[in-house]
Amino acid sequence: MCGIIGYTGKNRAAPIVLQGLRKLEYRGYDSAGMASALNGALYFKKAAGKIDDIDKKYELGELPGNTAIAHTRWATHGGVTQENAHPHTDCKNSIAVVHNGIVDNYQELRSALIRKGHVFDSETDTEVIPHLIEEYLKEGNTFEQATRLASQKLEGSYAFIVISLDTPGRILAIRKDNPLVIGIGRHGTFAASDTLSLQECESVVFPDDGELAILRSDGVDFLDIEGEQIEKESSTLDMNNYQYDKGSYEYFMLKEIMEEPQAIRAATIQDEQIFTRLAMDILRARQVVITACGTSRYAALVGRYLFSDVAKKFCDVVMASEFEYFSKSIDGSTLVIAVSQSGETADVIEGIKRAKANGAQIVSIVNRYGSVLSRMSDDVLYLGCGPEVAVAATKSMVSQMAIFYLLAYAMRNEFKIAANNLRHLADELERTLKGNGKGIVRLAEAFKDIEDFYYVARGMNSPIASEAALKLKEISYIHAEGLPAGELKHGTLALIDDGTPVVVLCPNDNTFSDTISNGIEAKARGAYIIGVSDIEHELFDFWIKIPHVDGFLYPLISVAPLHLLAYYLALKRGTDPDKPRNLAKSVTVK
Ligand code: M6R
Repeated sequence: MCGIIGYTGKNRAAPIVLQGLRKLEYRGYDSAGMASALNGALYFKKAAGKIDDIDKKYELGELPGNTAIAHTRWATHGGVTQENAHPHTDCKNSIAVVHNGIVDNYQELRSALIRKGHVFDSETDTEVIPHLIEEYLKEGNTFEQATRLASQKLEGSYAFIVISLDTPGRILAIRKDNPLVIGIGRHGTFAASDTLSLQECESVVFPDDGELAILRSDGVDFLDIEGEQIEKESSTLDMNNYQYDKGSYEYFMLKEIMEEPQAIRAATIQDEQIFTRLAMDILRARQVVITACGTSRYAALVGRYLFSDVAKKFCDVVMASEFEYFSKSIDGSTLVIAVSQSGETADVIEGIKRAKANGAQIVSIVNRYGSVLSRMSDDVLYLGCGPEVAVAATKSMVSQMAIFYLLAYAMRNEFKIAANNLRHLADELERTLKGNGKGIVRLAEAFKDIEDFYYVARGMNSPIASEAALKLKEISYIHAEGLPAGELKHGTLALIDDGTPVVVLCPNDNTFSDTISNGIEAKARGAYIIGVSDIEHELFDFWIKIPHVDGFLYPLISVAPLHLLAYYLALKRGTDPDKPRNLAKSVTVK
């Protein structure tokens, strides 16, 4: 979490950095700040709040100079206060640092630095970084050496960008386990958390762990972990893939839900040969384990059913934050599939490190090009659904399920058939989204004051029940549970009362009649039943109609109206669906 950016170049830095920072706001939005350098002085502005509010009050974009760094925060260490906002500085205010990640040993470092006379202004772990650099500078090291040495003292994960008064026009950037991209443009150079925030860059370089990037206005040098100069490969950046705006939509989330059909179409544009090769690897592997978090995990759970039903290949899905506790059974005959929209999720990366160390083959399903996860994997399958900005994952999940569908059919040598089915599905989904909008708005109005929501389904639809509940909690703050319908009677049924909304996902597939029976049990306790199905049933108090599709495709189509329901409930309750409280899009801390 947290977004960092720096620019040094021929143009005034603050407006450029501010524009990039806004694009990083999905990473955290509880405080923000900027530092710039000009004529032997550092200038700072920082505060708690969202970037636009801070900019209105403090005019971030007005900071002087052609070199600036900035930060948008998701608090980990220390409350949401101005003092804890970044940048952080050394004792003399001559070094400024913005950081994404966690310094695990900060307390020990802080105490040692305090003993040496350093004075701290914040409660953050980050503040040890400028003080450490200051300390190494005192010992006679250059700025580059001091920054490298300081980084080597840090335990945990980090990407940080630093400027110093003593080296005007220069920015240093370094990472370990957290994302960092260096951009080279016509008028200057950038360091940032992601490619989305870069502007007018012709090429980008992704530093590896421990490598230091030294940015000047006219180019970038790289030092390896030993401090030796190295050549890094750069890749070109097609800026068209990185542009995003809300278009005519009020929120990114609605735009991204409406893009779900297009996301399915984009997911089908794949290299069949790669899919076939990976499908064979999956079939051959002694065991296949899928790992992911949150919504990506629900897509993985759908994938698990698809592998089993379509290709008769059993696999397991392990929540990434629990992966390490299973890692002893991961070995060279295991194929691990990591699913992550951002490709940055710390829990996933941690699990993949362990799996790699144990010799497993790693395949990742990722949206973000050049992400940490994609660079750690033996093979990467890209979603290609474009930037997803709203914190709530929507179109990326639909893409992930489409990729699993393609993989499952590739195991049967039927990739082309699957791609075709998906393209038809995309058209159906477009109609479904259009056809259900008004009814869902009415439903949201009727239930806007409710405090509990339940979602049930069976088989490969049951992860969609969990996903729908997660989305509702995440953006509308309504308590919700999603569970396999057969589990209701094992406990949760006790919570069903007069008028409790229970969404019953029961497409006309092999799960229909059993799921209806479970719905009837809920209705007998007073539940208000919202049916999601392609056939109407007397059980339903409200019917969300989906089209009849290939049985293995129902999860991809039924999730969309439930994303809409969560969205409209959030609007009716007056919450911001794009920026839910306490959350961030990229979860780069464990
Ligand atoms: O980037 P990832 O797919 O790895 O993110 C995983 C979860 O953090 C993410 O899906 C989260 O659950 C969403 N905000 C849910 O909408």
